Amino acid sequence: MIPNPLRDPRDRRLPRVPEPCALVVFGITGDLARKKLLPAVYDLANRGLLPTNFALLGFARRDWGDTEFAELSREAARQYARTPWREEVWEQLAADITFVQGSFDDDNAFDQLAATLDELEGTHGIGGNAAFYLSIPPSMFPTVLKQMQRTGMAESTPGRWRRVVVEKPFGEDLPSSRELNALVDSVFGPDDVFRIDHYLGKETVQNLLALRFANTLFEPIWNGNHVDSVQITMAEDVGIGGRAQFYEKTGAARDVLQNHLLQLLALTAMEEPVEFSAEEIRTEKLKILRAISVPEDMETFAVRGQYEQGWLAGERVKGYRQEEGVDPASLTETYAAVRLGVETRRWAGVPFYLRTGKRLPRRVTEIALVFKRAPHLPFAETDTEELGNNQLVVRVQPDEGVTLKFGSKVPGSVMEVRDVSMDFLYGEQFTEASPEAYERLLLDVLLGDATLFPRNAEVEASWAVIDPLEEFWAGTTPHPYRAGEWGPRAADEMLAAEGRRWRRP
Ligand SMILES: NC(=O)c1ccc[n+]([C@@H]2O[C@H](COP(=O)([O-])OP(=O)(O)OC[C@H]3O[C@@H](n4cnc5c(N)ncnc54)[C@H](OP(=O)(O)O)[C@@H]3O)[C@@H](O)[C@H]2O)c1
Repeated sequence: MIPNPLRDPRDRRLPRVPEPCALVVFGITGDLARKKLLPAVYDLANRGLLPTNFALLGFARRDWGDTEFAELSREAARQYARTPWREEVWEQLAADITFVQGSFDDDNAFDQLAATLDELEGTHGIGGNAAFYLSIPPSMFPTVLKQMQRTGMAESTPGRWRRVVVEKPFGEDLPSSRELNALVDSVFGPDDVFRIDHYLGKETVQNLLALRFANTLFEPIWNGNHVDSVQITMAEDVGIGGRAQFYEKTGAARDVLQNHLLQLLALTAMEEPVEFSAEEIRTEKLKILRAISVPEDMETFAVRGQYEQGWLAGERVKGYRQEEGVDPASLTETYAAVRLGVETRRWAGVPFYLRTGKRLPRRVTEIALVFKRAPHLPFAETDTEELGNNQLVVRVQPDEGVTLKFGSKVPGSVMEVRDVSMDFLYGEQFTEASPEAYERLLLDVLLGDATLFPRNAEVEASWAVIDPLEEFWAGTTPHPYRAGEWGPRAADEMLAAEGRRWRRP
């Protein structure tokens, strides 16, 4: 029988709409909920991707009445939504939003929340399904999880699912992440836990898998026989904003290297999954994370920095130690770079240089494969003076796309070869704009699709990479760099030590 593609459960072309359900957001009045979650819910509603029977239940401490809450959430959605504003969509959604006020340590408030969730069954027909989003300070995770356990809210039963979404940071080192994982696992089943690394919701990150595994062109050279080195960069031009309290005890390595950069490394280096499913992709990523080696010579190959005052986009900006809420003698790093190895047959001997920093010249995230030079050039040396290594660059943000850099003859009567770029830009090839990462990931949570969410073992394997770096850095002073520059000199020296240079994205 010829399979009917419309009936094929693997056909992903049709928009998937979740079953009736509720989304419960703990910390609905917070920064993340206002800037990302509420707008994402509106965008999903606007695209017709929420089930008809849907309810959003917000919980926070602030004493907001229903009217005040409705007005503020409308403003948040309106200001940060990606898709055009349609009042009627919001009106319909607003009718499905409820606010419960209370403190996490207040049993009565949680009992009321549980009762409200039960009531939604009757009023909104949510089928008992609910996803709980912990958009709260990590220190509150244990309290909230225990309350959910006490009230029975976390229990999945046949025909009713209960899921939890955990925001990073997933702990602050290996022991604390193990503790957190054990706690979450004691309340929710392993398939019901969704750890958000919003980078994985970005379209280009998923395109990396398409680029590698849907084509024949790239995979044969995607290995140490052809690749000289890999550079993964996440640069931010902003400082720490109002997040001094969080940042002071976190720093760039824990904030970005542990999660976003190591996940990008895993996707770049992993083997082809047996199929495009959560289980198989996570299995391949985990193998890579476990195969990562940290440098023996950390003095040279693990560099951290801290920005000093400088100039950015024509404006004078403060140094990190002068930021409000930062200790004037702070040793927290705002820049981290490291040379990692991936001990597999495909990658042995290929350095993976990772770097991230704040107050760098521009906001850019990219993965660059730098290829080996041709073993022989049949040109005069002067003809190829301006020829660099071939490079394949996957740009995650902004201007998502892929660039191929290679040598080409300069027009004219003499033979001269110089680097040129071939660009693929998402915005130019496709008319449909990419969904926001949170939009995509929230939908996946409601659908129960865990493909883009790292699992416990991945988080723990990542901390196993970061912990030795943190241990080496503890108590040392980060190298200074001026705001508006590409990090400290020591980071340049790290690459120079092996005859390489950082890309200037
Ligand atoms: N903001 C971001 O862009 C971002 C990015 C990545 C990850 N994250 C993570 O996302 C989570 C939330 O971050 P955020 O920036 O939104 O934090 P936030 O602005 O400080 O918001 C925290 C929320 O939790 C509520 N809350 C705190 N303690 C409470 C208590 N005892 N009882 C009841 N409610 C309480 C607050 O309610 P009241 O204000 O009403 O008291 C508020 O709604 C954190 O885990 C953070 O690490 C945030």
